[in-house]
Amino acid sequence: MTTAPQDLQGLNFNLSEEHLAVQEAARDFANTELLPGIVERDNAQQFPAEQVQKMGELGFLGMMVSPDYGGGGMDTVSYVLAIEEISKVDASASVIMSVNNSLVCYGLEAFGSEEQKQKYLVPLASGQMIGAFCLSEPEAGSDATSQSTTADDMGDHYVVNGTKNWITNGSTSGVALVIAQTHREKGHRGINCLIVEKGTPGFVVGKKEDKLGIRASDTHSLLFTDVNVPKENRIGDDGFGFKFAMSTLNGGRIGIAAQALGIAAGAYELALKYSQERKAFGKAIFEHQAIQFKLAEMATKIEAARLLVYKAARLKDEHKDYVQAAAMAKLFASEIAMWAATEAVQIHGGYGFVKEFHVERMMRDAKITQIYEGTSEIQKLVIARELIR
Ligand code: CAA
Repeated sequence: MTTAPQDLQGLNFNLSEEHLAVQEAARDFANTELLPGIVERDNAQQFPAEQVQKMGELGFLGMMVSPDYGGGGMDTVSYVLAIEEISKVDASASVIMSVNNSLVCYGLEAFGSEEQKQKYLVPLASGQMIGAFCLSEPEAGSDATSQSTTADDMGDHYVVNGTKNWITNGSTSGVALVIAQTHREKGHRGINCLIVEKGTPGFVVGKKEDKLGIRASDTHSLLFTDVNVPKENRIGDDGFGFKFAMSTLNGGRIGIAAQALGIAAGAYELALKYSQERKAFGKAIFEHQAIQFKLAEMATKIEAARLLVYKAARLKDEHKDYVQAAAMAKLFASEIAMWAATEAVQIHGGYGFVKEFHVERMMRDAKITQIYEGTSEIQKLVIARELIR
């Protein structure tokens, strides 16, 4: 389904042999393991359990985690190359992968205690279990400081009450990072992030969402009623939870930007191939300038998105400030994904509107990249604030 890599070595992005090997492994995995049955899984909203298990075995679920904790010890560039390839085929699989890698594993490795890393990061990095990141609520999406979920401090433990919405890996995760308000009078500085194990009394998986796209990923509301969570499961100091969420999301946005890039590139590659096979008015539709212009514009904008995504990843790897670069990459790549997938449907004509040609699914999958891990409007806000920082 996908074609040869379009790496950026010529532009001194210095993709190493290792980077190219990761890219190829992800491409092979996508085509051999994820492509078969993808239409059926999308129709049935069926979680790709077997495929996720294999992703764990191949090291795709803890790519950037240190080998000390059973991870791949890879850089962010390797991670975005893998996400891009997997998203060219299956955006449901790539969001499962992205949340586990960049929100859950990264958050625990960067800010968790040694005990938390041994207990939770080790199984998460190997894919033995997957994790969920619980920030959004019925009344708090973009306005993430308005947390209604509470974590009351009882001395040696917290008592959590509230509802989290649209949680990726909601029913399949073994552990959830839950953002909750402890000291209401302190606003966002009174928020904590707690590690809550599945099966803790009072922690219930709620409604499964019937979604427009990424339908094979597992999205649920999660309900917490008087859930006791030990103090040692708090990440960082008292009141660090909102900073934790924001800092973790900065990296998460690079993952979603790479996902959007992959959806755009996957749709483009299918449209390019189709345009050379499909004939109209006596020649391949690629020979018509109307189609050529669409493909030329798609190729150009996708390459621009790729540069932004790789730049953000490179900045993170070099321990430079990447907040604005991540927001720019996510904003641009997600807008391009929506547009390019729609153009790919248009190029396919009537066939683009039916499921077996894949581009209609990609068009549906693209939409969420403009919404989750910060909407396009929130990315603009983040970018604007950085302009005058
Ligand atoms: N990085 C680090 N810290 C940040 C930050 C960032 N990008 N943005 C804000 N902060 C910090 C600020 O420094 C501030 O801390 P201090 O007061 O200690 O300095 C604190 O967070 C509050 O920031 P603001 O005063 O700027 O708060 P605000 O309410 O005006 O704006 C916001 C905050 C940027 C809009 C934030 O609410 C936001 O990012 N909203 C979007 C939420 C989001 O991305 N949700 C995604 C859900 S997870 C998901 O989608 C996963 C999935 O399923 C795939």
